[in-house]
Amino acid sequence: MRLLFFAGSTREGSFNKKLALLARHIAEANGIEAMFVNLKDYPMPLYNGDLEAAEGPPERARAFKALLGEYQGVFIASPEYNSSVTPLLKNTLDWVTRVRAKGETGLEVYKSRVFAISGASPGYYGAMRSLLTLRQILEVGIGATVIPQQLALPRASDAFDEDGSLKDKAQQEMLKTVVEALAIAARRFAA
Ligand SMILES: Cc1cc2nc3c(=O)[nH]c(=O)nc-3n(C[C@H](O)[C@H](O)[C@H](O)COP(=O)(O)O)c2cc1C
Repeated sequence: MRLLFFAGSTREGSFNKKLALLARHIAEANGIEAMFVNLKDYPMPLYNGDLEAAEGPPERARAFKALLGEYQGVFIASPEYNSSVTPLLKNTLDWVTRVRAKGETGLEVYKSRVFAISGASPGYYGAMRSLLTLRQILEVGIGATVIPQQLALPRASDAFDEDGSLKDKAQQEMLKTVVEALAIAARRFAA
């Protein structure tokens, strides 16, 4: 069983990349094979139906779908833009649904693995509203399984220690709970 971690931000100092990296570190410390992927390495044009009709999904969307397929559990750290997910995250998720072999809906790769979501923001809500939207996209729109445990991390600019851990022990414990629950669910899915 292997877990994949990524963030809906490619920003150099992204709090959500920090959160995803910390979650991956927790997984590794628990003996789980885990990888962090930066969406910077998977640039895709903004989805456009005419572009898709002319050229099909971009190579990076095919590559990202293939990557997802190698992991039984996926952790997404979602920033919050105007109370929703980032265009980067939505565009990536959307393009992957358009990579379809004959007879496929494009949703198979999402439905056959399990997701955990968490988010960080410098504001008071800790990206909670983006998590509600992301849960809706994944569960209602795509039919994926998303575990109920999640961490919404407020005041993210002051939340991390220099070693990348969370200063607040309760938040650190919550993230550990999320990762452990993801691993348990992913093992069940993989069985
Ligand atoms: C267009 C835009 C809209 C934003 N809207 C929100 C918001 O609704 N709620 C919030 O907590 N932060 C909001 N922010 C601030 C982001 O949470 C902040 O930029 C954060 O650092 C982004 O995540 P990152 O650090 O992972 O890149 C917004 C930022 C941008 C650029």
